[in-house]
Amino acid sequence: TRVLVINGPNLNLLGTREPDKYGRRGLDEIIADLRVFADSCDVTLDAVQSNSEGDLVDAVQQAGADGVDYIILNPAAYTHTSVALRDALLAVQIPFIEVHLSAVSAREPFRQVSYFADIAEGVISGFRGEGYLLALQAIINRIEPQV
Ligand code: DQA
Repeated sequence: TRVLVINGPNLNLLGTREPDKYGRRGLDEIIADLRVFADSCDVTLDAVQSNSEGDLVDAVQQAGADGVDYIILNPAAYTHTSVALRDALLAVQIPFIEVHLSAVSAREPFRQVSYFADIAEGVISGFRGEGYLLALQAIINRIEPQV
């Protein structure tokens, strides 16, 4: 099983960026933890972060070409703006889970609109970096149905 983690703009600054909202852990640490979990479940995990909308679109298109099974997506600010990234996900038809470190529904009104939530398998918001682990657990549960 192949899972791709896609993180959008400013998430490379995790750890120092508004730690009260996003936590004190860096993106590298969060991905390293996720990788340990993935390895223990025979999941091949790749991760990409970009500050550019076009690069994120390219990453989704490439995931389609590569046969990625699931995407864990934090579009960051593009959550609230990007028709292009939404269209890319609709084009490749890869199931994805939307993750936000902060509790977006408790923040400014413009953050309460997501261009992804209605086409995501589900949304995890407010659990800081742990949200990515919760998303991977959900994917594993779907891949290996409970007996
Ligand atoms: C975010 C929430 C977005 O509103 C914001 O623009 C981000 C991060 C989150 O993970 O909480 O950059 O996606």
